[in-house]
Amino acid sequence: MAILLNNNGYDNTTWQHELSLQLPSMPIYSYPILGQETDIDAVNYALVWDHPKGDLRRYKNLRAIFSLGAGMEHLLSDENLPDVPLVPLLDPIVAEDMANYALFWVMNCHRQYDNYRNQQSNEIWQALEIKPSSEFKVTVLGLGRIGQKLTETIQGSGYQVSAWDFKQKMLTQDFIQNIKMYAGISELYRSIEGADVVINCLPSNDKTRCLINADFLTQMSAESTIVNVSRGAVIDEQDLLDALNHKVIKSAVLDVFSIEPLPSKHELWQHPKVTITPHISGATYARSGVSVIVKNIKRMESGEIPEGVFDRNRGFKS
Ligand code: GLV
Repeated sequence: MAILLNNNGYDNTTWQHELSLQLPSMPIYSYPILGQETDIDAVNYALVWDHPKGDLRRYKNLRAIFSLGAGMEHLLSDENLPDVPLVPLLDPIVAEDMANYALFWVMNCHRQYDNYRNQQSNEIWQALEIKPSSEFKVTVLGLGRIGQKLTETIQGSGYQVSAWDFKQKMLTQDFIQNIKMYAGISELYRSIEGADVVINCLPSNDKTRCLINADFLTQMSAESTIVNVSRGAVIDEQDLLDALNHKVIKSAVLDVFSIEPLPSKHELWQHPKVTITPHISGATYARSGVSVIVKNIKRMESGEIPEGVFDRNRGFKS
């Protein structure tokens, strides 16, 4: 039994170290596998990010593929992906970080801190009018685990939260009682009506590509802000720029982009109504990430199915 590890583009060493602490008896092959002694048929579990397409087919005894992030598009774009369970990394610590990131921007919009910063540079002492947080409306798009955590956190801070997803979710947590839920394309625009902030948590797939386009942005209020924490491809960036330039919406906070890193000289970089962060709303932590994955490997080793398996047919987590 062995693990294949490839955190392509990031640091393999910390992950390897954590794995060796948490699964001391398991050989770990860090990709690309070197050395005569490597037995690729021993690989049962692949822990990968942006792994070379077609390579996973080589491991005949693979039992599961664990993504080293929440996103799955790096795996789903591999046409030769073996038919084994795919498991996104659903680390509660990362979801919490993302929720705090989103809450920070909701508060920033609500309390108008940017305006105070501008006032300060002109030595203006002037309280700005705001509505109570219970009247400040936030819509979260996407009710996967990350969307749920954001919704709970923002609602827990007293904001009026609505949530939308493609299908009605059977959620039982207490905070759901206080959320207005919308489901299906026919309810999408109703879910953002009057929202002060709309936060995108939808994954990137055929159904969501450019879902936030000119039509969508026209349904938002002229004083509203869009925040994107999931994938850049969900927003049509040219339509967003047009909407900002024509005052269709007020501003955008973007952590993700259709091309990353955002290319130099891209119009979004210098846009006065756009705040850019470099895909940091939820950093991945090796220690907690490994403990989530190891728990699942242990489940599989004792004959159970892993938690949070991705449903390939629906393109969403089951
Ligand atoms: C980051 O974007 C991830 O998919 O974990």
